[in-house]
Amino acid sequence: MATHLGLAQNDSQYELSHLIEQTLVKLEQYKHSRESPLGSNCRHPQRSPFLVPVDSANESFQIDEIRQIIEGDLLPNLVVRSIHPHDPVVVNRHPSPWTVLGCGNYAAVFAHPDHPNHVVKVYAPGRPGLQEEREVYRRIGVHQAYSVCHHASDAYLVLNRLEGVTLYDCLRHGIRIPPQVIKDVDEAIKYAIGRGLHGHDLHGRNILMHQGRGFIVDISDFLNPQPCRAWVDIRKAYYRLYLPFISPLNLRIPGWMLSVIRKCYRIYAKSGLFARGKTTAATNSLGCSGITS
Ligand SMILES: Nc1ncnc2c1ncn2[C@@H]1O[C@H](COP(=O)(O)OP(=O)(O)OP(=O)(O)O)[C@@H](O)[C@H]1O
Ligand SMILES: [Mg+2]
Repeated sequence: MATHLGLAQNDSQYELSHLIEQTLVKLEQYKHSRESPLGSNCRHPQRSPFLVPVDSANESFQIDEIRQIIEGDLLPNLVVRSIHPHDPVVVNRHPSPWTVLGCGNYAAVFAHPDHPNHVVKVYAPGRPGLQEEREVYRRIGVHQAYSVCHHASDAYLVLNRLEGVTLYDCLRHGIRIPPQVIKDVDEAIKYAIGRGLHGHDLHGRNILMHQGRGFIVDISDFLNPQPCRAWVDIRKAYYRLYLPFISPLNLRIPGWMLSVIRKCYRIYAKSGLFARGKTTAATNSLGCSGITS
């Protein structure tokens, strides 16, 4: 995989505008912490998805360091392939001590033990979307339900690491998903819409649960204005099937069954049957009605 050393001019512009945006958000948070007798963290007492407390003075130094080991060690020794566009990419080879945190249909995500707060998302060769994802992170700014993008090259992104279990794995392992997770994701989608984005492609592997709260781990499709029902259908399935039947019985749903459900859902979505469905006020307010792509 090609490495990309050195910053292009638009990289610098991106990082500068990102820095200004982060500073403004931090000033806003500081203002609120002065207003609250409990301090800034008490606005979202359980919302701390990061593994290690962030020391912002040290952060840019850490990002420089991680970029060096990505470009000097990870990328030259990495083989990531996309075999089928509708299936997760495959990591054939990666250097030690990097670990694979997860694979999506476009990219693989890696962690390094010396950098517990950050992850590296490497797009498989030929898979599109990295520049769009970078733009989404620029527009999202800083919000408790989302990660932060610290650096983007042509091949990879350096993001804050979010802790937690994907909803997909919660179903596989019978881990209870409380309604608060659904509410957090609803709120996060509304926030994204307020920033000119769309809650697109929110499936079970793109949402994490940590300490009973919900986080959105993949926002790469949020520039896509096409209607997407994925989250609306997950929410509906949650209240109609999961809460009354699956959660009380503590059922585990095997991976193969989830895979069948995913494939059937894709066929159903493409069939156009959604278009005949009724759109609720809630789906409108989340901007998620219509046919998924
Ligand atoms: N910031 C993060 N912190 C921790 N884990 C992450 C992070 N980003 C991604 N992951 C893990 O890596 C997996 C794959 O990442 P991601 O969903 O971003 O890839 P993708 O190829 O864009 O996915 P999709 O097929 O949904 O488009 C996620 O399901 C999650 O398990
Ligand atoms: Mg994903």
